[in-house]
Amino acid sequence: MMTTNLAFLSNELMDVVRLFEGAEALSIEHAVAYKEDVFHNQFTVEGKTYCFSDYAPAPSQLAYKSLCKRYAKLSLYKILSERFEKRLPWGALTGIRPTRLAYAELEHGMPFEPLLADMGVSEENLSLLTRVIEGQKGIYEKKEGNCDLFVSLPFCPTKCVYCSFITAPISATRKYLDDYLTALEKELSALPPIRNLRSVYVGGGTPFALTEGELERVLKAISAVRKNDCEFTVEAGRPDVFTEEKLRLCKGYGVTRICINAQSFSNKTLERIGRKHTAEQVEEAFEMAKPYGFSINCDLIAGLTDESVEEFCNSVDKAISLHPQNITVHTLCLKKGARLKEEVSSLSGDMLGEMIAYSRKRLTEAGYEPYYLYRQKYMAGAHENVGWTKKGYASVYNVDIMEEIADNLAVGGNAVSKKVFLGEGRIERIGSPKDIPTYIEKVDALIKEKQSLFK
Ligand SMILES: C[S@@+](CC[C@H](N)C(=O)[O-])C[C@H]1O[C@@H](n2cnc3c(N)ncnc32)[C@H](O)[C@@H]1O
Ligand code: SF4
Repeated sequence: MMTTNLAFLSNELMDVVRLFEGAEALSIEHAVAYKEDVFHNQFTVEGKTYCFSDYAPAPSQLAYKSLCKRYAKLSLYKILSERFEKRLPWGALTGIRPTRLAYAELEHGMPFEPLLADMGVSEENLSLLTRVIEGQKGIYEKKEGNCDLFVSLPFCPTKCVYCSFITAPISATRKYLDDYLTALEKELSALPPIRNLRSVYVGGGTPFALTEGELERVLKAISAVRKNDCEFTVEAGRPDVFTEEKLRLCKGYGVTRICINAQSFSNKTLERIGRKHTAEQVEEAFEMAKPYGFSINCDLIAGLTDESVEEFCNSVDKAISLHPQNITVHTLCLKKGARLKEEVSSLSGDMLGEMIAYSRKRLTEAGYEPYYLYRQKYMAGAHENVGWTKKGYASVYNVDIMEEIADNLAVGGNAVSKKVFLGEGRIERIGSPKDIPTYIEKVDALIKEKQSLFK
């Protein structure tokens, strides 16, 4: 049970509590006062009281709120860290985008390391952040009018056990597919004019779960909007739905980048997580895609249930040996929707730490650089997801979406469009219905809403 005297801190402090397994059961009382530029945080945890005083002048209400959150979270993190005898890789940081904090410091002409080190971020992660920021050079661009296009296809061959994305097996949703594609075509043809289209991303879901004819409808509708050449990704996805014809269609419609996701190269793991394909099929999909010359991304997940450190390390080695331009290393995220939450990953934080350290070392040795990173709630071991790239192949879409520096026009069900007001430092969002029939029904209203926001 957690109580605080400032309502806006409640969720923030709960995020810190959730970082420590077992902390949710503790009784925690909190009170904060701000006097003469000093934040006084007092916590009582299971009857024991802790006091912290931090000098931090706040020139505005916005700054006050941000500093208030920072010191309250940091104080609670210190208490719990001591109580559970555990230091976390990102310390008291609970946000999705640690890079944004780093960029904010840099924009104020200050190095970001001191602030993040104060928040308890490990040396290794400070250096990772430095490399990510370096990796984004040439792509990271804050310019009004920059825009990316996202096309959502929430259809999958089957549902993977760990996955919490809002997608369903296509066998259950095929009855809506024709109407869904009609709604998508309508949205795409009614898009407000895009001044500077930086990239297109077709994801979901598993776009290759569609038949060739269905996929072509989507690609054709996109090509009518894509006036300038730009990065064009299709998250083809699972190798069990790859065909020559789908690859040929992608090439013909100007796709530049595809994803062939393994998650793991252990057949035992793949079976356990319900992927319904083998490691050999991943290799075959790489072979099949080779003649088309796409830039390829391969997703891996660290922390999959019952996977050993050795199995994960083998997967990293195997992915590297296939020479994709990008490898994305996710950490298992135990979201509410995933069945795995009940199955509970058998991995300890230390095993995960070993896996992540190995992936960083091996990918670096193999010539990959980290270029984007993000975190989610309920991530095993409070780690992160990192996108790695060979030089010159960093994905514009991933940088823009993670750093939230460009507009995102997102079409389809369960897609969030974002209008970024750079000057005002704010973002307006329009989320479309997650449920497919509701999206189809509401598409006309959605079109109007987006036209008005992006006019
Ligand atoms: C939207 S999914 C689409 C990928 C594609 N359908 C496939 O399965 O190959 C993008 C990626 O998120 C990652 N992912 C999904 N659920 C996850 C979870 N619970 N924890 C960590 N990563 C997850 C997987 O690596 C997956 O490839
Ligand atoms: S991991 Fe990919 S294929 Fe599996 S359910 Fe999630 S989106 Fe679908």
